[in-house]
Amino acid sequence: MRAFPALPDATVLAEPELLEAFRHDESHIVGCLPLAVVRPHGPAALRELVRLAKAEGFGLVPRGAGTGKAGGCIPTARTVVVDLSAWPGSLSVSPQDLSLQAPASALLREVKAAASEAGFFYPPDPNSWESCALGGTLATNAGGPNACKYGMTRHWVLGLDVLLADGEIHRFGIRSVKANAGPNLAQLFLGSEGIFGLILGATLRLTPKPRDYTTLLLPVKRWMDLLDLPGRLSAAGFLPSAFEFFDPAVLAELRAHGPEEARRLPGEALAILEFDERGCTSDDFLEALADLLGPVADGLEMASDARQREGIWAVRRITSAFLKERHPKKVSEDIVVPRSRLREFFERLEGTGIPAVSYGHLGDGNLHVNLLAASDTAPAALEAQLMTLFRLATELGGTLSGEHGIGLAKRDAFLALAEPGHIETLRALKRSLDPAGIFNPGKVI
Ligand code: LAC
Ligand code: ZN
Repeated sequence: MRAFPALPDATVLAEPELLEAFRHDESHIVGCLPLAVVRPHGPAALRELVRLAKAEGFGLVPRGAGTGKAGGCIPTARTVVVDLSAWPGSLSVSPQDLSLQAPASALLREVKAAASEAGFFYPPDPNSWESCALGGTLATNAGGPNACKYGMTRHWVLGLDVLLADGEIHRFGIRSVKANAGPNLAQLFLGSEGIFGLILGATLRLTPKPRDYTTLLLPVKRWMDLLDLPGRLSAAGFLPSAFEFFDPAVLAELRAHGPEEARRLPGEALAILEFDERGCTSDDFLEALADLLGPVADGLEMASDARQREGIWAVRRITSAFLKERHPKKVSEDIVVPRSRLREFFERLEGTGIPAVSYGHLGDGNLHVNLLAASDTAPAALEAQLMTLFRLATELGGTLSGEHGIGLAKRDAFLALAEPGHIETLRALKRSLDPAGIFNPGKVI
């Protein structure tokens, strides 16, 4: 293509040195140099961009803050990055409707703060929540520690504004949890990673803000004992709002080289448990909980104020960046194993001999299994290790991604492991919604 044409109502970047930064997200993948980066400021820009994409045969790759972990916003060959960071719109809360309207460009932290200022809670909390854009969380159906009780992003979306292949913006859904006039199309776009259309705004569901928190550090004497706890808590009627863990290797590394707060962390392995329901600070609740945790705990610490709670979470939040800094070429996964089979998973993983360390969201079985020595492993061997890992999760009734999505990083594995009918159905939807194949080509399927 000749020099990238000017567009109405948009900023266009086309100088190679400016495009370079857009080849990355927070995965280990480096993408192609895009033809251009377009920052639309209104619908006219998108209308023209869709027309050009079809006429010139290039793809449109949506991008929010670039914090994704599966390469979903990374440019493939002959694509233009649609940077939605300047997409217009303001945040507004409707207390009566328990909902919040926001553009894709809003940062998730702004969304959470707006909900909180109005006395409400918007639960999705991916680890990047302070820097990621709402649009990215919608496109990837992001999750985080709170998913354990509150579910994923998709559980908090009532409606979406979506750019479709006709170049127009369409609204799906209303400001109510009860909306049953046919299949829910907003849900189709959530987690679709931009392959069916581009999400530009959303109506989100809110819930009253929790008033009480019980936050516990739970060191365990024997690591494997931790693995039965999520299932035992569920069976006993406890529903933690977060249940995170560090396996012995991650804990040892944090203790030896982590920040000050991490140096004193006890136990062979460690969990962070949080409850946020009314009454979770009462003696009755805490006694019942201690009865359940006592036999496996190696001492139990409870945060006594907001500052201590924050200190506990600070260590958890830096874990991914900390490991990345120490092992820059590590490959990190986010498989899921049903809670009832966690022990079996780790026993079998050990049996495979794959050199992996793990941390993450034990409460919902979403495990960040990290291959720290990935760069010292021959590519074919690494590939085989990852496939073994994904197969194991799948065999146990889980899946290869719990929260980061497929993007480019897991596309081959997804195509190899998903049921053929699943892929065929997705491809049929893609053909029907995006016959020219302009939306995020080469991703997911
Ligand atoms: C986390 C990111 C890696 O949970 O999902 O830290
Ligand atoms: Zn995570």
